Amino acid sequence: MEIFTAMKERKSIRAYLDKPVARRDIEAVLAAALLAPSAINLQPWEFVVCYGEEKERLVRRLLKARSERVVACGPGTDQPLPAKISRRATEALAVMEPHIAAPGLTFNQFIEAGSCAFYGAPVAIMVTIDKLFPAIRYLDVGLAVSYLLLAAHAKGLSACPIGLILAYRDDIAQALNIPEQKEILLGIALGYADESAPVNAFQIGRADLAEIATWYE
Ligand SMILES: Cc1cc2nc3c(=O)[nH]c(=O)nc-3n(C[C@H](O)[C@H](O)[C@H](O)COP(=O)(O)O)c2cc1C
Repeated sequence: MEIFTAMKERKSIRAYLDKPVARRDIEAVLAAALLAPSAINLQPWEFVVCYGEEKERLVRRLLKARSERVVACGPGTDQPLPAKISRRATEALAVMEPHIAAPGLTFNQFIEAGSCAFYGAPVAIMVTIDKLFPAIRYLDVGLAVSYLLLAAHAKGLSACPIGLILAYRDDIAQALNIPEQKEILLGIALGYADESAPVNAFQIGRADLAEIATWYE
C-alpha cells in the first residue's frame, strides 16, 4: 500500500471481529515499528504482546479494575487548554456522536467507552520504556507507535491507541509481569475491524495546516 494512502485511510478502530490475528502478522507489524528513527539509534521502545488465553486473563483483570474505578479521560495538562485546542475535541465529538451507541455522551465518556476496544480486540500491545530514559525519549517511542499503526493498516489490520488503560497500569504490570523499572506508556488494541459497528463508521478530521504551522520565508 502506498504510504500516503495508508496515512489518509488509517483511523482508530474501537470494535473488532472475533477473529484471531496470526502471530506472524503481529510480528510483521512490530517489525515495521522497529524501523522508526530514534535518537542515536537507541530504539528505547519495548512491546509486551498479549493474545489468546493470556489476553482473556488480562481482560478479566482489567474489567474487574474498571468495575471498581471508572476513570475520566483528560488531556493530562494541569492548566486549562487554549480554546482553539479544546475545540478540536469538541469537533471530534460532533463527528462521533451520531455513530455512538448512546448519544449525549461527553467526549470523555466516549473515549472511556472507546477504551473498551482494548478489552474486545484479539491482541493487546503494551508499549513500554525503561525508566532510566528521560521523558524526551517518549518522542522516539511515539514514532515507533506511528509506524506500527500504519503498518497494521497496510496489512489489513486495525488498531486503536488506548491511553486511558494506563489508569490500570498497576494491574497490567502485575498481570503481564512488567517490572517496576519499565514505564507503561500506551496500550494498543489490534485486530480485524468490525466494519458494521457504528463506532467504526466515522473518520475524525484534523486542524488546518494554517493553524499549526508557522512559516518564515
Ligand atoms: C496517545 C493516544 C492515546 C489515546 N487514547 C485513547 C483512549 O484511551 N481511548 C480511545 O477511544 N481512543 C484513544 N486514542 C485515539 C484518539 O482518540 C484518536 O487517535 C483521535 O481521536 C484521532 O482519531 P483517529 O485515530 O481515528 O484518526 C488515543 C490516541 C493516542 C495517540
